[in-house]
Amino acid sequence: MALLGVLGRPFLDLTKLLDLGALDAVHEEICLAFAQLPTSYTGGSHRSMGIVPTGRPSDVGRDYGEVIRDLDDAGFARLASLADDPEAFARAPRKRGGFGEERAHPLSRAQMLWLEARHSVYFPWKSYLELMPVERWEDKDELGKPWSREALTFLPQTVAFLSQLPLEGIGRANVMGLKSFDHGTMHHDGPRDASAPPAEFMMFCPAGNKELVLYDEASGEETVVRGRAFWFNDSDFHGVRAAPHFRYSLRVDGPFREEFRRALQDVAASPASQSESP
Ligand SMILES: [Fe+2]
Repeated sequence: MALLGVLGRPFLDLTKLLDLGALDAVHEEICLAFAQLPTSYTGGSHRSMGIVPTGRPSDVGRDYGEVIRDLDDAGFARLASLADDPEAFARAPRKRGGFGEERAHPLSRAQMLWLEARHSVYFPWKSYLELMPVERWEDKDELGKPWSREALTFLPQTVAFLSQLPLEGIGRANVMGLKSFDHGTMHHDGPRDASAPPAEFMMFCPAGNKELVLYDEASGEETVVRGRAFWFNDSDFHGVRAAPHFRYSLRVDGPFREEFRRALQDVAASPASQSESP
């Protein structure tokens, strides 16, 4: 399937549509939060979730969904012993899956570290902070959930910045950091359905030093997205290029306000499109 895109473009640059004057302060605050807060891992099971493109086998390392499925009884008992609630985890029907983030049996930090060390599982995002957590992916469509205590305590300027964006409300917000030389595996978030409207969210890279890649499975072409604020179709395959330095992005999900939708349409319709990366 070719890129689905947004409003007829591979992606849309939001820098001219939003006031990004607070992003420098947001960047300082997030970097301090990385230094002061315990972060989590995320990613690591995209292949077993069936959300990676075919034909890029080297893109995904060992996948914890596959590893957990193939553990012997002793291995599974060891994994369960590292859970936040070992007895409940031990009762989980492991052949059925459902382990990991935003699923029935989340992994503890100790479990992720053990899967990484013992079974070479690759977790792309090793510095993950949830500002407005969701228990399941679908929950991001429910607006008005509380900010995390960590966000309110350590990231007040970030919360204020996100709260003034032209969104009807916020259903999910997080910060995803990649260590030096790590890459974000190619995957899709939303359904691969050309008739479905694209999920509405905004992605910020305050440091402007991350290369998001959109992958057209039909042609094999890659579109590189740089910049500090953009929107793309998360049903398209996307990943992050490796780089010799730490990078992070800030994602906020919520329906766009109507006037912002109209502004986006104007940008998408303009001949001098902002949507092409240099
Ligand atoms: Fe994604």
